[in-house]
Amino acid sequence: MKKIGILTSGGDCQGLNPAIRGVAKALYDRLGKEVKIYGIRDGYRGLIEGDYDVMKKGDFSGILTLGGTILGTSRQPFKQMKVIGEDGVDKVEAMKNNYKQMDLDCLVILGGNGTHKTANLLSNEGLNVITLPKTIDNDLWGTDITFGFYSALDVATDVIDRLHTTATSHGRIFVVEIMGHKAGWLNLYAGVAGGADVILIPEIPYSMDKITEVIDNRTKDGKVFSIVAVAEGAISLEESKLSKKEFKAAREKMPYSSIAYRVADDIAKATGHEVRVAVPGHIQRGGSPSPYDRVLSTRLGAKAAELICQGTFGCMVGVRNNQVVPVPLSEVAGKLKSVPLDNDVIASARSIGVSFGD
Ligand code: F6P
Repeated sequence: MKKIGILTSGGDCQGLNPAIRGVAKALYDRLGKEVKIYGIRDGYRGLIEGDYDVMKKGDFSGILTLGGTILGTSRQPFKQMKVIGEDGVDKVEAMKNNYKQMDLDCLVILGGNGTHKTANLLSNEGLNVITLPKTIDNDLWGTDITFGFYSALDVATDVIDRLHTTATSHGRIFVVEIMGHKAGWLNLYAGVAGGADVILIPEIPYSMDKITEVIDNRTKDGKVFSIVAVAEGAISLEESKLSKKEFKAAREKMPYSSIAYRVADDIAKATGHEVRVAVPGHIQRGGSPSPYDRVLSTRLGAKAAELICQGTFGCMVGVRNNQVVPVPLSEVAGKLKSVPLDNDVIASARSIGVSFGD
């Protein structure tokens, strides 16, 4: 009998349920009654507190198209994992004890960057761990793609499409803020897919003068509207020269609720145009997974089951050159996959006149 624990950790995204389903169905297919699956509630919180249940085969049916995660999730900062809080709980020891309590052969962890640091820690502590890469940010090292990304891209693109029609009618400038944390993948793709005129991503610090120039030139060309897609992590040229500490202090003093509002205000002041802001926020993470993500999650989940049966642990199931492969956790943990400056999507966008504000 193989005993497998499964948890989803960090921010949710589309594709978690199809991935859970993929792992479970492939395990039942391979092992029949010789597998017991524990669903651990709310990510590492459930593993720390011993909040888990044995799942039934039927629990994994009917969830392919469901957004979110049937297991619940929570953010448990890696930095805090080794810190014993006021409750006196040693979180790492508690997780190891609960792993032993369930008598697990493997713990399957679905998560993004922070989650992978803790997964690597648990693997180094001797637990058998396999992870699956989830995040709308697509910023996980070691995999070409993460599930959640293409579903969020559909939503973000739809938002920009809708803004286009109203921006055209009113002759307005729209600044739309797209998620992605410190990486620009989602905004780059949504900006290109939605036909944005300016795309600002964290990897390319922007200059307000350049943005103003682009909008002024469009006005001269008779274009009455513009779409500026701003990644939530976008930074200005001036900010890029600050130390981490100085940047943090400057942002704390910033009198705007997020970067899009600052960019919008600066554009309005510099151009005299009417500017509106749209921040779709968590809507980008909500709803049903796209067909692409359903397929990707199923492939990754099925591979995880194969690796479990082979006894290959300490790895993330990633995608490289469209092949689903195990990638050592030690290679993945703590590394951010930013958009490389020589990325061909950036080059293509530039070649059709899109500005990156640089
Ligand atoms: O990592 C996914 C993500 O949606 C990021 O794009 C965003 O910065 C962050 O999570 C938002 O986090 P929370 O759900 O905790 O508000």
